[in-house]
Amino acid sequence: MKTPSISRRSLLTAAAAGGAATLIGQGPSLIGGALASAESESSQIVSWAGPHQAGITTPGQRHLQICAFDVTATNRAQLIDLLTKWQRAIEVLTVGQQLPGSTAPTVAPSDTGEAAGQTASHLTITIGFGATLFDGRFGLASQRPAALIDLPAFKGDQLNTAISGGDLSVQACADSRFVAEHAVRMLARVGKGLAELRWLQSGFDEPPARADQGSGRNLFGTKDGTSNLDRSDDARMRRNVWVSSEDGPAWMANGTYQVYRRVNMTIETWDDSPLEEQEDVIGRRKASGAPFGGTREFDPVDVSKLPIHSHVRLSNPRTGTASEDERILRRGYSFHDGINPTTGEYDAGLAFIAYQRDPRRQFVTIQTRLAENDTLNEYLFHTASGIFAIPPGAPSGQFVGAGLFATPGSPPPADAPLAGGDDAPPAGPPAGGGGTPPPAGGGGTPPPAGGGTPPPAGGAGGAGRAVRPPARAAGRPKHPHRHRRPKPKRD
Ligand code: HEM
Repeated sequence: MKTPSISRRSLLTAAAAGGAATLIGQGPSLIGGALASAESESSQIVSWAGPHQAGITTPGQRHLQICAFDVTATNRAQLIDLLTKWQRAIEVLTVGQQLPGSTAPTVAPSDTGEAAGQTASHLTITIGFGATLFDGRFGLASQRPAALIDLPAFKGDQLNTAISGGDLSVQACADSRFVAEHAVRMLARVGKGLAELRWLQSGFDEPPARADQGSGRNLFGTKDGTSNLDRSDDARMRRNVWVSSEDGPAWMANGTYQVYRRVNMTIETWDDSPLEEQEDVIGRRKASGAPFGGTREFDPVDVSKLPIHSHVRLSNPRTGTASEDERILRRGYSFHDGINPTTGEYDAGLAFIAYQRDPRRQFVTIQTRLAENDTLNEYLFHTASGIFAIPPGAPSGQFVGAGLFATPGSPPPADAPLAGGDDAPPAGPPAGGGGTPPPAGGGGTPPPAGGGTPPPAGGAGGAGRAVRPPARAAGRPKHPHRHRRPKPKRD
């Protein structure tokens, strides 16, 4: 149980209300304590501002809420309104404040209140745009990045489309579960009438008790994250994570691509497997995390010592430049959703999240190899999927993705009339990375040399929703998704 302390909020509120005198009357130790507490609370604020969105290279927090929304806004101006409302909310929530608004007894409170009294808890909120956002409803079709592919269907996929895909993704991470949950709930609330939650996955992570114990563990009990990219290495982040201005389109410069996979782990089967087999499957020792041939977790990997179909060998074959260019920034969390009532087994696994500069060269290449040959497949199956373009950070006074709306939209398809104002650009200059007009045809880089499976025509499986009905013809119900969405089936 946490020791109650005077929060930064109450200190500021008391000071504003002339209550500082009362606090002063309580003597220096309390004042000092309160100020120290206010200081330590402010150190729990992760700034949303900067060239990149927060929550990507931010050190991992303990709790994850990742979700996707279907946009029900019917025109471009409304979509901009939604993103602007979200930005204002992000600016308030990430400093540990409640959303301002009504507290009148006769109306529902603006802030739902479950995170009241918590600190900012290192909350980060990261917004992404799914491929379906570029389907023509908002005049954005020509702006779809070439790298925002529909993921191909991978061998062994058992995807549930109801919990896959989506127009917008929101990743909220915090060191308080209440704070992370509250963030998503408030974005859903301020977006009411403009977007609806499509799916939501929570997750958890925990560093070891002592820093000298290395990486944390996943639900198989193995160390996870050992050879992840070093997020403090700027050159590495530029090479593998951040979209450059040459990659295109211009509005994505300094952004990245998020791939989400809900990977169920058959924990009961794993738990009954001999230790030797568990280690062969990964290619590392279970207790220490050392690679085969080494003795400590961070000893260099010698691929010649790894079983040929081990997870580490297949996910990074270490063949030189090509392997290095493929590497991704993993930011996954364990999840545990209880017992599957059909099988009686744990519904648990890994909410796999990876960031990368080009998913064609990176995630798709790695996952194709894993899906074909990884012995770990015996113990897991992928149940949901999503891929999202993560725009750069919002410049002050603007919103995430403002650069996308800086050029007038392409005309809507003839069968999907858009309401008035659809092509109106937002007020103000484009977001960081904007400015240069995007290359004709939506920009994007030609598929990178040496890399990747080409995106499939159409978009099977991976992005979740393969077919989307033409958007918003007159007379269509206001919330088409509510009527269309199949009831999620249990895994
Ligand atoms: C439940 C699913 C998964 C589990 C339990 C798992 C577990 C692990 C473990 C224990 C390691 C070794 C330690 C480390 O370097 O972090 C590892 C490494 C890695 N995994 Fe996974 N993983 C899973 C899914 C995936 C997926 C879907 C990908 C897809 C791209 C992937 C890509 C990687 C990569 C790139 C590495 C680093 C290899 C290296 O550079 O040595 N993993 N994983």
